[in-house]
Amino acid sequence: MPEVFPFSQAPVPVALTINGHLHELAVEPRTTLLDLLREHLGLMGTKKGCDHGQCGACTVLLNGERRVSCLTLAVSHDEATVTTVEGLAEGDVLSPLQQAFLDYDAYQCGYCTPGQLCSAQGLLHEGHARTRDEVRELMSGNLCRCGAYPHITDAILSVLLTQQPAP
Ligand code: FES
Ligand code: FES
Repeated sequence: MPEVFPFSQAPVPVALTINGHLHELAVEPRTTLLDLLREHLGLMGTKKGCDHGQCGACTVLLNGERRVSCLTLAVSHDEATVTTVEGLAEGDVLSPLQQAFLDYDAYQCGYCTPGQLCSAQGLLHEGHARTRDEVRELMSGNLCRCGAYPHITDAILSVLLTQQPAP
């Protein structure tokens, strides 16, 4: 009879730079980045929707790329840089996307908004979207139970168009 070794849940050290601040913690290997943010650091801006990688509510930027934090193990990304919705503004100055979400009335209950904002920030950085349809397609992983999609798309498109060079 082979000996069975249970998975160790002993805390493992991990260092993450989150919104410009270095955090050195020890967490169980099974700890997701989402739970690390919310439960260990009290950064409640990142939302837990489905916890199964299907809704996008938990989207953050990991080394500049959008990532669903509920499917991301924190200890797998030692020394990574993370940006959450709390890190998008410069002090009291909202990011262009945050301001556009206000200007275009792009939220209702607001639950999906942090994930939408982080995902949109990643979309702008990727540089693949040029049109409304491309924005819609590339934001399709972020669900909104309130159905604010047209205004969300308008807001993202308004920022995208300011970044595109004049023809
Ligand atoms: S909570 Fe992560 S995708 Fe839904
Ligand atoms: S604004 Fe309510 S879920 Fe999107």
